[in-house]
Amino acid sequence: MTTAICPGSFDPITLGHVDIICRAAEIFDEVVVCVMHNAAKKSPMFTLEEKLSMARRAVEGYKNVRVDSYDTCDGLLAEYAKRFEHPVVVKGLRAASDFDYEFQMNMINKCLNPAVETMFLTASERYTFLSSSIVREVAQYGAELKGLVPDAIIPDIEEKAKQWR
Ligand code: PNS
Repeated sequence: MTTAICPGSFDPITLGHVDIICRAAEIFDEVVVCVMHNAAKKSPMFTLEEKLSMARRAVEGYKNVRVDSYDTCDGLLAEYAKRFEHPVVVKGLRAASDFDYEFQMNMINKCLNPAVETMFLTASERYTFLSSSIVREVAQYGAELKGLVPDAIIPDIEEKAKQWR
């Protein structure tokens, strides 16, 4: 079975992430959304449990999609991929500026685990501007989150943003 792994820090998951995950679900037998740690991103807004809870609600209803984490979020993606028969990491590219980082990640993952393939899906046009950091900023100003993240997780983000203000 070929498994798409959609890894990310998901702080929080956005409609741009959901778009990539759902398109991967049309292509692959199964999709695993894996909440992981990005060493370059300090001070996350949400805990691992909160990220998992939001991601699970965001993909509810997609039968071949599930949400997971690895080593309480601190493990290597290349190691996590070893539990799948044919792992394919699927990442979204919003703009050329995403490419350098994702290309480097693809190379290190391949180096650490040669069985891992990486595929890129280009972001849908309406989400090319969208990122978790933009969502966090919008939320901290108390502005409207509809259309940026799944409706089901808007209250979580608004509540957390109030604590951060
Ligand atoms: O949503 P992000 O922050 O762009 O996702 C990046 C992520 C979490 C997928 C990446 O940082 C990652 O793979 N983290 C796990 C640790 C790892 O395998 N690092 C690369 C090799 S050192």
